[in-house]
This record gives sequence, structure tokens and C-alpha cells, in this order.
Amino acid sequence: MEHTTAPSVRRGHPLFARFYARVSPAMDKGGVTEHRRALLASATGRVLEVGAGAGANFAHYPPQVTEVVAVEPEPLLRALAERAAADAGVPVVVRDGVAEHLAARTPTSMPWWPA
Ligand SMILES: C[S@@+](CC[C@H](N)C(=O)[O-])C[C@H]1O[C@@H](n2cnc3c(N)ncnc32)[C@H](O)[C@@H]1O
Repeated sequence: MEHTTAPSVRRGHPLFARFYARVSPAMDKGGVTEHRRALLASATGRVLEVGAGAGANFAHYPPQVTEVVAVEPEPLLRALAERAAADAGVPVVVRDGVAEHLAARTPTSMPWWPA
């Protein structure tokens, strides 16, 4: 049976968000930052980051990245990601959204969707 609508997905996870926002910086200091750098070093052009969290990746995109569209459904983490976007070395736009709905939308209904 063909699905014509995307599934409903819970967006707010306040306990997880507060926990992750608190432990993530310590994890980064403990070595995760090196993984972020290695993962993102070869990224180029326009990037779609799904599940951006608090935006901890943003500072590690190399200059050959021309734009990052970062999708984050959780409100607290998205607010932190918006702050991180302002300090990123490359242009980053942060949007509310979930992975499950991205494929169901068209560029017309998502003007910010990478062409
Ligand atoms: C483990 S965190 C990782 C965050 C970030 N990528 C990082 O490296 O710090 C996973 C993130 O995915 C988000 N997420 C969970 N389900 C999602 C979905 N269905 N679509 C998009 N993002 C989702 C969560 O809100 C959370 O911010």
C-alpha cells in the first residue's frame, strides 16, 4: 500500500534535550570533536544536516561548504543550534523538521530546501 502522508513524529523531548545539551560539550572535549572534524573535513557545497541537535557540528564544516541547512525538531536543541549557527564559519540556516517528513515535501512547500 502506498503512503501518501508522512507519519506523525513527536518533536519535543525536553528531558533528552536538557541532558544532551549538558553532556554533549563534555563528550566533545573527551574526543568527539576529533570525530566531528574527520567526518566533516571532506564536505563540500550545500549540506543537509538532519538531527542537528545543538549545532555542535557547525563549527567544523570546512570553507568549501557553501551552505548548511540544519533540520532539528526538538525546540530547546533547535534554539541552541540557532545560536551556534550565528558563530559558524559557513552559512547555516536552522529549520524545524523531521526526517520522516522531508521526503514527503516538495521544494515548493519547503522554499529553503536545497535545490
Ligand atoms: C544524538 S543527537 C545528535 C545531535 C547532533 N547531530 C550532534 O552530533 O551533536 C540526535 C538528534 O536527532 C534529532 N532527531 C531525533 N529524531 C529525529 C527525526 N525523526 N528527524 C530529525 N531529527 C531527529 C534529535 O532531536 C537530536 O537532536
